[in-house]
Amino acid sequence: MISSAPAKIILFGEHAVVYGEPCISMAVNLRTTLSIKRSVQKESCVNGNPVSAQPHMKKALEMLWKGESLDIETSSDIPPASGLGSSAALVVATIAALMKMCSEEISEEKIAKRGFDVEYAVQGSASPNDTSICTHGSAIMLAKEKKEGFLWEIEKDGRKWFINHCDFPEFDIVVGHTGIRGGTAEQVRKVRGFVEMHGMDIIKDIGEVAEEGAKSLARGDLRKAGKLMTKNHRLLDMLGVNTPQIQRLVDASLPSSYGAKLTGAGGGGCMIALTENPEETAKAIESAGGKAYRVRVERRGVLVE
Ligand code: PMV
Repeated sequence: MISSAPAKIILFGEHAVVYGEPCISMAVNLRTTLSIKRSVQKESCVNGNPVSAQPHMKKALEMLWKGESLDIETSSDIPPASGLGSSAALVVATIAALMKMCSEEISEEKIAKRGFDVEYAVQGSASPNDTSICTHGSAIMLAKEKKEGFLWEIEKDGRKWFINHCDFPEFDIVVGHTGIRGGTAEQVRKVRGFVEMHGMDIIKDIGEVAEEGAKSLARGDLRKAGKLMTKNHRLLDMLGVNTPQIQRLVDASLPSSYGAKLTGAGGGGCMIALTENPEETAKAIESAGGKAYRVRVERRGVLVE
């Protein structure tokens, strides 16, 4: 069985989504691929190592697989621990393959919900954003209410999220990776401290930028969307999750792009630039010390062969 799932970037709304504001993410054309074979070993293995050493895979197998041991090989274009959804892609690709092996009827909703269960069990307070976008592909808005393009809803511990499809045209994004590990839980805690001290104004502003940003992208107004991305970045900076390394890559990308922002939790990880000159923007990011990835929307979500 071979399965795969895409990476994701957050275009607008990270952190504010924790307080119920909308978050817009897009799947990009970097993928994790998985091949699963039945094996005669005593324990299931991932890339030759016991599955017990890989918490996400271990949990997915515990939840979904009662059969014989499995031999799993993975390969990925997605840089790990960079905020691009490498673990979510791995989880949803595993779940889809196991459901197929169990001859279960596959639906995106089921895969995304189970994927979230696995991430939640392993990481604690995850939001269902990553597993939903890596399952569905294209772009989604995670929101507190149903929007046009509603796909499914997810509930956990009294919290409820609505996953809505966003129909965006093609555009170029350059991802700049700082090479530094971010640490989502730590950044979420930092923002909580900020909100307790200064209130919700910036969170609300990010929510408004996200709503407006989604509309600009849907009508193909890249100039406006880029401006809003840069505004979103400045608001994230005020929340305290920007770093000098991310800022250096954002500054380097701005002269050749419509706008740029950190993407994901911050504190390290990646930034993104919306650009019509991807080659020039990528060069500028590399010259500033980042690793650049030229990406576009990936319409295909999780796939099983
Ligand atoms: O670290 P990432 O890319 O998965 O982004 C986390 C996004 C946050 O809004 C900071 C947290 C969340 O769970 O939504």
